This record gives sequence, C-alpha cells and structure tokens, in this order.
Amino acid sequence: MKGKTGKGNWNLSLILKANKLGLPSVILLCSFFFLAGFYASTFFSLVSVPDSSGARPRSRLLDSVNEEESHYNLLNSGETGDDSITSIPFQVLSWRPRALYFPNFATAEQCESIIKLAEPRLRPSTVALRPGETADNTQGIRTSSGVFISASEDKTLDFIEGKIARATMLPRIHGEAFNILRYEIGQLYKSHYDAFNPAEYGPQKSQRMASFLLYLSDVDKGGETMFPFENGLNMDGSYDFKDCIGLKVKPRKGDGLLFYSMFPNATIDPMSLHGSCPVIKGVKWVATKWIRDEEQND
Ligand SMILES: *[C@@H]1O[C@H](CO)[C@@H](O)[C@H](O)[C@H]1NC(C)=O
Repeated sequence: MKGKTGKGNWNLSLILKANKLGLPSVILLCSFFFLAGFYASTFFSLVSVPDSSGARPRSRLLDSVNEEESHYNLLNSGETGDDSITSIPFQVLSWRPRALYFPNFATAEQCESIIKLAEPRLRPSTVALRPGETADNTQGIRTSSGVFISASEDKTLDFIEGKIARATMLPRIHGEAFNILRYEIGQLYKSHYDAFNPAEYGPQKSQRMASFLLYLSDVDKGGETMFPFENGLNMDGSYDFKDCIGLKVKPRKGDGLLFYSMFPNATIDPMSLHGSCPVIKGVKWVATKWIRDEEQND
C-alpha cells in the first residue's frame, strides 16, 4: 500500500488531474474567491446599523464611534472628557478668514425636526443698530425670518450644540441660543460682521468670536453664504454689500460651516465679512450659533 487511498486522500495533484486544471488556474480561482469573500464582507459591514439615538441609520463609515475605536488606542480620559472617539470630518475652506466646512454634520431627520420646531414661531429677522440707525432705515439689509431657540428646549438642538462644542472646543456656555432662519425667494442678508466693532457699536460686554451655521435644507439656486473679502480680495473700498462675490458656500442640508470673526489676538478679522446671497429658487433654512468670548448667562 503506497500512500493513503482512503476518503482522506484529497491531495492537490488529484484535483488538478481530475479537473484538468493547471496550478496557476487554481491559484487564480482561490484568489478570486478570497477577494470576492473579502469584498462581500466589507460590503455587509457598510450596510447601516440602526443607532440607539433613533437617528437615521447611516453607513458605519460615517457613523464614527464603533468603527473608529477599533483603529485607535484610546487613553483614559479626565473626568470631564469622553471615553470614546468623536469623528467629525471637516475641510478647511479658507484661512483668511478661518473657515471650516463640516459635511454631514447633522442627519436629514435632525434638520427636519429643527425646521418643524421653528416654523410656527418665525418672525421677521432684525439687525443690531448702530447710532443713527433705525428699524426703518436698515430695512432690506436682512430680509429673512427667524426665531431664537435655546438648546435646553429641544433634544435635537441639544445634541447639535454638544457636537458644535466638540468641533470648536468652545464651551457650550459661550454660545447664544440658536437662531433658526428661513430665507425665501429674494431674501438675503447683506454682507456684515458678526463681531461688533466698538468704534461703530460702542463698548461691548462680550464679542461674537465664531459663528457656526448648520444648513437645514438644500437650496436649488442662490442662498450661498459669501465671504467677499476672502484672502483680502475686493477690499479696495468699491465693494457693494449686496454683491454676491468672493468665496461662496452653497447650502447643503445637514452640512455645517464654522468661521471665526476674530483673530487669535482678539481683534476683529476684516476678512470675516460675510452675507447670505439672495435665494433664487427654493427655500433656505439655517440654524446659526454665535459663539462669544465670554460666558453667556442670559
Ligand atoms: C492681530 O492679529 C492680526 C492677524 O495676525 C494682525 O494682522 C494684527 O496686526 C494683530 N493686531 C494686534 C493689535 O496685535
């Protein structure tokens, strides 16, 4: 008896003979099934898993926590820190002014629930007045409707506010209440600064240093957030504050935009001038969070 001839004798040479396949073909076939299996398992792991917050099931690629934690060795956090990774992708849109773009910052459901909360409470938006200005002679500068809503009133706003605090590392207590705004066709906000220059507005108790805009809707046409002085452009004094020029950010539902109105040395960044281009088609909804350099206790 040479070698084993029992059922167990499934050696490679037999298979090769039986199937009239060469060794290279077998290796190719094996590689094929290995890769197919690999991609199939990757695909299934991408299929969404409902999350406990009741938010829209999202791809695990976007849903940071579990996926990320397997790739990082977390440290023990301090008592006020997190014991998990927060993954918030962003794109630097500009350094002058400092502006960051956060794709998919909020889910569609979160956006819709904020709109539903705000819609019945909208009033015409107002602007801060300089000496000599009145509600009448500033008409047309800001034509949207809006309402201030505190995060303590709503769990979606509370969640978003927490996420903004993580993204900026500016504590929640520095933020004003959310200003939820609606711009209909033709409505706009002429270019302005969010920080109040004491030379124009008088001494300030605190200053708006950063602004976070969460776009709650897509806009078919128009409604961009514009930074006409980006990188020092158009600053020769000829700029007309309603002109929609410079760096333009197209609103996309769920995306966030953060920019700083002040330099690190706490002076106002002249390039942080910005405005909302008129909506041409569709409706623009945005939730704005102004963040101040002092705690907000009112
Ligand atoms: C503050 O910082 C900006 C930008 O770096 C700079 O241009 C400006 O001169 C500084 N102002 C003061 C008063 O230090």
